[in-house]
Formats: sequence, C-alpha cells, structure tokens
Amino acid sequence: MTSSVSPPYKCNIYKGLPVPNFITAERYEELDTLHKTRDDDVFIATYQKSGTTWLQHILNELYDHPQGEKDNINEAVPWIQEASQKKIDAMLSPRVFKTHDIDRWDWILKGDKIKYIYCYRNPKDVCCSFYNHMKRVFVGHYEYTGTFSEYFADVFIKRNAAEQGWYFDHLAGWFKQKGNPNILFLTYEDMVEDLRREVLKIVEFLGLQCSDEKIDNVVSSGMFDSMSKNPTVNYSWRDGIAKDPNSKFIRKGKVGTWQDELTKEQSEQIDQLTKDLLEIPFGIRIRDTL
Ligand code: A3P
Repeated sequence: MTSSVSPPYKCNIYKGLPVPNFITAERYEELDTLHKTRDDDVFIATYQKSGTTWLQHILNELYDHPQGEKDNINEAVPWIQEASQKKIDAMLSPRVFKTHDIDRWDWILKGDKIKYIYCYRNPKDVCCSFYNHMKRVFVGHYEYTGTFSEYFADVFIKRNAAEQGWYFDHLAGWFKQKGNPNILFLTYEDMVEDLRREVLKIVEFLGLQCSDEKIDNVVSSGMFDSMSKNPTVNYSWRDGIAKDPNSKFIRKGKVGTWQDELTKEQSEQIDQLTKDLLEIPFGIRIRDTL
C-alpha cells in the first residue's frame, strides 16, 4: 500500500487514501469479491462527522431493531468495512449499514434495488467536529498530537490527508450520482432545522408505513438531548470519553459552532473551496448557519 501523503496520525492507507487502522486491504478485497447484496439493504453514507450516528439510530428505530436489542449502535447498524463478512452474512433483513467510502461505485452501488442515504454537512462544522473526534474521543485510535491550526492545514484542508479522503472529493463523488433514484440526499442542517420533516422524507424514500405515533417516538428518541444520554449511541465506551468527563461524541449538535473555532482566514479558505468545487459545479448551496 502506497500513498502520496503521510498523514500525521495512526491509520492504514488503501488505494492512496487514509482509512482507519481497523480496516484492512484484505477486508476491502473481501467486500469486492465475496459480498452479496440483498435487495432491501440500506446504506447510510457520509463523510465522517456529518450525522452518521444520528441516522444509524433513526433507521434502527424506524425498522424496529431488526438485529435485536444491542448495547452499541454499531452492532445493530455496522460499518460494513469494519464488520466481518461472517457477521454481515448472518444479519437479519433489512440490513442497514454505514459507510464513509468515497467514489467506489464498483461495489458500493451494486444491486439496482439497494437504497443509499447520503447525508452531508457544512465543511466548517465537520472540520471542528472531526478535530474533537481525533483529539478527545478516539484518542488511542489516532494518537494525534497536533494543534487545531496544524490539524486544519495538515489534515482537514490538505487533499487526501484526512481519513477517507478530502471532504470536497467525498461530496463531489456522491453529488455526481444526483438523480439516481436509489439515493436520498439529506443534509445535517436540514435535520437540525426540522427532524420530523427529514424523518418523513426517509420514511417515504424507504417505502415504510409508519403511524404518527411511531414517527413521534422516532423523532423524540433522535433529539440531541435524548441521544446524548443514550449509552447505546453516545460512544461513552470510547477511550477519550471514558477517561475525560468533558469529552463528548454527541458534543454540540448545532449548525454554525465553527464561528467560535475557525479564524477568518480558515473560514475564507473553506468558503473558496466550497464555492469552486461544490456549489458552482453542482448547483447547490451548503448552509453553514441556519
Ligand atoms: P458535533 O461534534 O458538531 O456536535 P458522526 O456520527 O457522523 O460522527 O457525526 C457526529 C456529529 O453529529 C457530532 O457533531 C454530534 O454531536 C452530531 N449529532 C449526533 N447526534 C445528534 C443529534 N441527535 N442531534 C444533533 N446532532 C447530533
């Protein structure tokens, strides 16, 4: 495995991109060759820190926990590249997976009935959330010692230096699939603005029949306060959180907190890339405040 970048934190490199050190090249190859999709499989696809866990929880609730009651949401809705093939094959349908994969349509889009929910979030809040994740939550996983400004320059803004690749490549890769009826595009900002409205979009997309009461319960259990107290989703098991009571995975849950964390120059640098690489080419607007 070779890479043109040497990320300043612990990771594996696969096809030139940093991936978590618990995902091996063998696992990717296994997925390419052995993975059998089922028509009712659903994928939650995100760039990290964009609402993945939130959607894992919501889908698991909407489907009434098809894998049974689990202590950790990642057991119920596994990261497909992390889980073993044996475990995935044994899952009951409907299976919901998470992935942070970028642009690997060769296997990820196989199966013309599989549904994908791609949720994206504005890059400034992602940037700040991901620093917290590396430094305070998954401490032993990354062993990252850089300051925020070093992280900004050497990890977030540098192409191919962040885990799973560059934010802008990730979104552009998925946006190229716009118009594919099997992909629902959501945004973190819309979910914060009106969670019920976004849950109803998911329900319609998946063709589920849900009572108003069920929707109310799903929305209520998906609210920030409820999730931050829920030990099956709040990552209280992670080393950083376990050791430091001020460290949180479900941390702020807001739109625009970057305004307290980024310098004017950092914010402008992100604005320029967002405009040039995402907003103009794909005709979208990414909201970084509500
Ligand atoms: P912050 O660090 O900005 O608070 P992911 O699951 O993709 O890693 O994303 C984690 C981010 O989603 C964190 O953002 C976390 O607080 C936020 N999040 C998780 N559950 C949420 C909820 N119910 N409401 C709002 N934000 C939530």
